[in-house]
Amino acid sequence: MADRRLFHLLSLADLSADALTALLDRAERYLQGDAASMVLAGKRVANLFFEDSTRTRHSFAVAARRLGGETLDFTAAGSSTNKGESLLDTVRTILAIGADLIVVRHSASGAPALLAREIDRPIVSAGDGRHAHPTQGLLDLLTLRQRWGRFAGKHVLIVGDVANSRVARCSSAGLRTLGARVTFVGPANLCPASLRALGSPVTHDFDAAIPGADAIMMLRIQSERISGGAFPSLREYVAGYQLNEERLRRAKPDVLILHPGPVNRGVELSPAAADGPRAVILDQVRAGVAARMAVLERMQTTD
Ligand code: CP
Repeated sequence: MADRRLFHLLSLADLSADALTALLDRAERYLQGDAASMVLAGKRVANLFFEDSTRTRHSFAVAARRLGGETLDFTAAGSSTNKGESLLDTVRTILAIGADLIVVRHSASGAPALLAREIDRPIVSAGDGRHAHPTQGLLDLLTLRQRWGRFAGKHVLIVGDVANSRVARCSSAGLRTLGARVTFVGPANLCPASLRALGSPVTHDFDAAIPGADAIMMLRIQSERISGGAFPSLREYVAGYQLNEERLRRAKPDVLILHPGPVNRGVELSPAAADGPRAVILDQVRAGVAARMAVLERMQTTD
């Protein structure tokens, strides 16, 4: 039988509907409390975070340990990267210490793909530049599937700084693969018409789009990827693109509010919208552990 090992996970755009569904099915069982397989017993997962993280870093660590693995947690702060050590030399050093699987976050788009070419270990992207954040995409899909059961006929708005968002790229790819419709929404400087090349329409009119949405995924302005400032006026951005109670009054009553985190309260989301009954932001975080367990397990499994 063919080896169906998921050797690297660099993007969700690489995965078929069947492959995505298999991962979601497994993650869902973990979310429902299935006992973890000890597939990582005797193995070490290196979590290499060259860029800041709370959710992704800690949920990968919890996922690896729940599967019986050991973790090696590396953050660039305090490491010898500050003395000029390269990415490849750092990873080769970590491998010499001992690691069976590499989870990597990096500010450079393509850093996980570079490691996949150069390093003889399974590589999972935990987010690279503007390119991809596949496990975030998977946990977004899992959160929505838990509520909806299916994706066909559903319409998701992805709103805000789409241009600089790896989450928008990955989640929209997964949603389209599974049959949902996606629209990118934001001001022209953060959501240019050229983003249509990613396969979804673009609009700058948030108010007009809201009534047709089944879910609204709000994005943070990713200032760390923007040189020279994001826009002339934060006040105008908030007036046009903040999801708040007034806008929610025009939404479907059962609309879901997602956000990958971290949330900048009072900018893309009002506190009432972030904490209200339609927000599933902490459900996304919970789904992240299960989704990452499914991914780490799949990378160790052949069938
Ligand atoms: N969603 C996400 O990637 O969050 P962290 O940056 O905290 O990992």
